[in-house]
Amino acid sequence: MKFYYFYLSLHEKKNDIIIINTVNYNIMTLNELKEAFLDVYGKNSQAVYFSPGRVNLIGEHTDYNGGFVFPCALSFGTFLLMAKNDDKVMRFRSLNQPEEIVLDFNQLTEPLDKSWVNYPLGVIAQFVKRGIAIEQGYDMLFWGDVPNGAGLSSSAALEVVTAFAFNDQLNTGYDRTELAKIGQKSEHEFAKVNCGIMDQFASAQGKKDRAIFLNCDTLEFELVPVKLEGIKVLISNTHSPHKLDSGAYNQRVAECKAAVEALNKVKSVKCLAELDQKEFDEIGTAITDKVAYRRARHVVGEVQRTVDAVEALKAGDIETFGKLMNASHVSLRDDYEVTGPELDAMAEEAWKIEGVLGSRMTGGGFGGCTVSLVKDEAIDNFKEQVGKNYEKRTGIKPDFYVAEIGDGAYRVE
Ligand code: GLA
Repeated sequence: MKFYYFYLSLHEKKNDIIIINTVNYNIMTLNELKEAFLDVYGKNSQAVYFSPGRVNLIGEHTDYNGGFVFPCALSFGTFLLMAKNDDKVMRFRSLNQPEEIVLDFNQLTEPLDKSWVNYPLGVIAQFVKRGIAIEQGYDMLFWGDVPNGAGLSSSAALEVVTAFAFNDQLNTGYDRTELAKIGQKSEHEFAKVNCGIMDQFASAQGKKDRAIFLNCDTLEFELVPVKLEGIKVLISNTHSPHKLDSGAYNQRVAECKAAVEALNKVKSVKCLAELDQKEFDEIGTAITDKVAYRRARHVVGEVQRTVDAVEALKAGDIETFGKLMNASHVSLRDDYEVTGPELDAMAEEAWKIEGVLGSRMTGGGFGGCTVSLVKDEAIDNFKEQVGKNYEKRTGIKPDFYVAEIGDGAYRVE
């Protein structure tokens, strides 16, 4: 909503203002974005880049445990328009945020106090830390239509679009995987979230109508077609006030690390995903801390579910895929404890609907979105029933989006 007020102030006399409301994300056209750049900076942009948000179909909280994930890039994401300046400064502006930041070249390696700019700045800092000389200033304008705080990786979109743009502008020649790593490092150092690689990887490597079956240990991946006959990927936004903050997330990461340490008393293990179910049943009791044990049990089970789900999808067995999604939610609820009342209500209401093959929370958890596979003919009923029942249970009005699987980062012009 901030965006609305900011943009309104720039376009007081215009009545075709783009309003982001929480139901329909009216996508700004490229021309409108370029016009906004001209308004803000008084000159034309020289380049436009885009990088998407993501939805994870299955494989949650497995990435920082060296496991498999299965996300896909979405058609919505973040645009970055930029032009060189002669002032030897970096100017950051966003149509989603009121704050404008101007930084000298010697201010590019330290995070700011609580600012959205930390996401792109953290990325530029990584280029500097890798020894890339920054000698050219840029005026930048960001605009994104990934709902904030919805667990659809608006931050990764912002990081990867910046990494992609600077890689192009500075001719640094990093490949997409390296750009994802730069985004992840930025998240660690500037947003202070010890995240895995999934979100940035999906934003960088996504492909239209494909999901990414990624081994987060080796970073080998396969693009698996997700052309589902008569079935849609439906995203339900809980608009829950609870977010997965860095504290709760980093705590899960630490608990998994503690589980690995405990396992190392009986076997040399690098990460939890190394264990299959049988091995975990044999040596899992070495994890004497009950909480750490349950976290590990989720990870081991979730890695297997992800492998099984991809196999099912390839075999055209969507029923099995859906059941594995449900089981994933239950494990995230009971063992990993990252769902919360809103995500549980949304998934439970979805499970009741005829024509729903599977439904689960997606992303970090606590708040944010669920992802469901829904038969075409059941979509309207889903939105109506789940919408009504979810609101009755939580007092919050949800939103639903049919996901379009899009491409990873690219230069628009
Ligand atoms: C967040 C993190 C990812 C991943 C998911 C959970 O989105 O950024 O790295 O850990 O949570 O699967």
